[in-house]
Amino acid sequence: MKKLEGKTAVITGGNSGIGLATAQEFIAQGAKVIITGRNEKSINEALTLLGENAKGVIADSADMKQVKELGEKVKAITPNIDIIFVNAGIGQFNSADQMTEEMFDDIMNINFKGAYFSLQQLLPLVNDGGSVILNTSINAHIGMAGASVYAASKAALLSLAKNISAELLPRRIRINSVSPGPVVTPLHTADKLGLTDEQLEGMGSELVKQIPMGRFGQASEIAKTVAFFASDDSTFIVGAELFADGGMATLKGA
Ligand SMILES: NC(=O)c1ccc[n+]([C@@H]2O[C@H](COP(=O)([O-])OP(=O)(O)OC[C@H]3O[C@@H](n4cnc5c(N)ncnc54)[C@H](OP(=O)(O)O)[C@@H]3O)[C@@H](O)[C@H]2O)c1
Repeated sequence: MKKLEGKTAVITGGNSGIGLATAQEFIAQGAKVIITGRNEKSINEALTLLGENAKGVIADSADMKQVKELGEKVKAITPNIDIIFVNAGIGQFNSADQMTEEMFDDIMNINFKGAYFSLQQLLPLVNDGGSVILNTSINAHIGMAGASVYAASKAALLSLAKNISAELLPRRIRINSVSPGPVVTPLHTADKLGLTDEQLEGMGSELVKQIPMGRFGQASEIAKTVAFFASDDSTFIVGAELFADGGMATLKGA
């Protein structure tokens, strides 16, 4: 039997990168998935790729009105879910002396506030014994120039996983976190990172030097780590974090 047979999962930001790879992995493991995203065109493209076991919901994590409608929109597709992968997020980087209030708010509103209230909307639909996985980052553990606000948004998620897990014990719902190191996804484009092509290339080659395994991760490798927490292979693990980082944080650049 496949590990997620009979399960239904919601994946925020499921139209691209790690979210899309996780949707593919979950479906391969027997689940049905509902992906959310802010862009109808890219959601529809992802649904075409994913096939009949996937449905889509438009929800911009930066727009509280849309976030507050998320529960009802998912409920219109199915009244019960088993798994939530809180994944939607942006990577924006600037030094503290150059940080603007606008960039600060964009990062926090999408990566933390949007994640928090998406979770609040979706948790009432989760069956007892369900699993929630948060996509955090090794940036929550290391010091990297330009990453202060992004890192703080991800550190906030790690804290949230432990504290809300404590509230969910009576329902046996576990929240765990996956913290990726650098992964090849559309996030690493000049446009999404707000960098020039030259800056992007410089950042990429600097990052690779700091990864003991000497390469970026693949989205499919993160997806399999998420699937571990989603499945019954991890039923005694709660409030925990798994690094999937080629040793970048764990070996401290050895
Ligand atoms: N790639 C890495 O190196 C890396 C490392 C550590 C952690 N992460 C985390 O992994 C998660 C996924 O990133 P990725 O690398 O897979 O990048 P990605 O391909 O850009 O995926 C990000 C997803 O989040 C969605 N999203 C962004 N802002 C949103 C909003 N306001 N409302 C709804 N959806 C929104 C994106 O939608 P659009 O397509 O519309 O932008 C996309 O589906 C992020 O939380 C990121 O912080 C990534």
